[in-house]
Amino acid sequence: MSVSIIVGAQWGDEGKGKIVDMLSEDIDIVARYQGGANAGHTVCIGDKNYVLHLIPSGIFHKHVKCVIGNGVVIDPVALMEEIKMVQSFGVKIDGRLFISHNAHLIMPYHKLLDNIREQGSQKIGTTGRGIGPAYIDKYMRTGIRVVDLLDRKVLREKLTRNIEEKNQILSKVYGKTEIDIEQLINEYQEFDKQIDPFVTDTSAYLNNALRKKKKVLAEGAQGALLDVDHGTYPYVTSSNPTSGGACTGLGIPPTSVKSIIGIVKAYSTRVGNGPFPTEQINETGETLRTIGHEFGATTGRPRRTGWLDMVSLKYSLMVNGINEIALTKLDVLDDFDNINICVAYKKDGKILKSFPTDVQTLESVEPVYRSCNGWKKKISDARKWKQLPKNTMKYVEMIEKLSGVKVSVVSVGARRDQTIVR
Ligand code: GDP
Ligand code: IMO
Ligand code: MG
Repeated sequence: MSVSIIVGAQWGDEGKGKIVDMLSEDIDIVARYQGGANAGHTVCIGDKNYVLHLIPSGIFHKHVKCVIGNGVVIDPVALMEEIKMVQSFGVKIDGRLFISHNAHLIMPYHKLLDNIREQGSQKIGTTGRGIGPAYIDKYMRTGIRVVDLLDRKVLREKLTRNIEEKNQILSKVYGKTEIDIEQLINEYQEFDKQIDPFVTDTSAYLNNALRKKKKVLAEGAQGALLDVDHGTYPYVTSSNPTSGGACTGLGIPPTSVKSIIGIVKAYSTRVGNGPFPTEQINETGETLRTIGHEFGATTGRPRRTGWLDMVSLKYSLMVNGINEIALTKLDVLDDFDNINICVAYKKDGKILKSFPTDVQTLESVEPVYRSCNGWKKKISDARKWKQLPKNTMKYVEMIEKLSGVKVSVVSVGARRDQTIVR
C-alpha cells in the first residue's frame, strides 16, 4: 500500500503542478481528489509552460496513469478543451486517463450562479468556475454525475428538473434570463461519446492498483487555508484540499497513505479576498509579484503577496499531518537584503497561542517577524544542497526548526530539473 498525498500548505499556487510532475518520474498513478477547473497547475518542461486545470499533473510522463477522482467537480467543456490541448502536444490520453463515474458535473448554470453571487454583498473573489454551486448541488443530492451523461434518458430527466429549479432562481431571485432546456440537453448529450472511453470506477481501479503494489500520488488542488472546514471560512473554496480529502475524494482507505508532502512557497500568496496577515501592500509585495510572476494561472488575476507565515503554516502542517515539505520558489527571494518570517501573531498586545480561523480575529492580528539575512545570489543553477549559499541554507533550516518538519525538496526554478532533493 503506497499512497503519497501532495497538498498545498498555504492558499494555493504553491507549485503543486511542478512538484507532482517532478515526482511522477517514479510514480505509477497520479490522482486528483477535489476541486475543479478553479485549479491551475503549471508544469514547465524545457521552455514551455502547460497549465492543467483538471487533468492530473503526471500526464506528461508516458508511463503514468491519471485519475480524476469522485471528489472532483468536472466541467465537461473545460475537460474536453484540456484533453485537446494536451493531445495537441503529442500526449497520448487513451488508456491513461480514468474519470470517476461518481464525479459531479459542473453545468453552465453553476458558473452563472457563481458569478451572480459574486456581485452580491459577500464577495469571496471566486474563480467564477461554478465550483461552489456545483458542490451545493452535490450535497443537496440534486447533482448530476458523470455516470448520468452516459444514459440519455436519465440525463434528460435530471437536467430538466435542475434547470426548472435554476430558472426559478435566475428569473425570480436575480431577474436574469432563463436557460433554454432543450439547447442545454442537446449540448450535454454530445459529451457522452467523448467522455465514455475514460469513465470507470476509479475507486476500484485505485484499490486494485494498490493491491498490486503500485505507487500512487494523490494530487490536491488549492491549499489547506482554502479548505471549507479548516481554512479561513468563508473566504475558502468549497471542497477539502487538506489531506483527509484525498481518501474521500478517491475512495481509498486512510491505511493506504504512506506520506503527506506539503508544498510550501518560500513566501506567501493569496488570490481572491480574505484575511492575509503577512500581506505586503508595498514595494516588497510588488517585487515578490513581479519576480515570482504571481498572476493567477486560471484567471490571470494578480496574486496578493507577502512574507512566509509560520503561524498559519504550523496549523496547516498539523491539520494535514504533513511529514515532509517541498519548499518552492526559493529563487524568487534571491535579491532581497532581508527576508522576514512571521513567527507569531499579536492581538491587543498579547501573543496568540494558536491560529485563529475566524476571519474577524485573523483580520486584526499583528504579525511578529524574525528577519533573516538574504543571500543576494542567483540560486536557480544549484542542483545540490551544498551548492546553495550559506544564508539560503540558513533560511531553509530556520523553516525546518520553526516547523519541526523536514524540507526534503527545494525548488529553485519552474523547470523540472531546477530541483534539489535532500
Ligand atoms: P499550483 O497551483 O500549486 O500548481 O501552482 P501554480 O502553477 O498556480 O503557480 C506556481 C507558479 O510558479 C507556476 O508559474 C510555476 O511554473 C512556478 N514555479 C513553480 N516552482 C517554482 C520555483 O521553484 N521557482 C520559480 N521561479 N517558479 C516556480
Ligand atoms: P490551485 O490548485 C489559488 C481561491 C479563489 C477564491 C477562493 C474560492 O491552482 O492552487 P472558488 O472558485 O474555488 O470558489 O474560489 O479560492 N482559489 C484558488 N486560489 N489557487 C487555486 O487553485 C485556487 N482555486 C480557488 O481565488 O479566493
Ligand atoms: Mg495554481
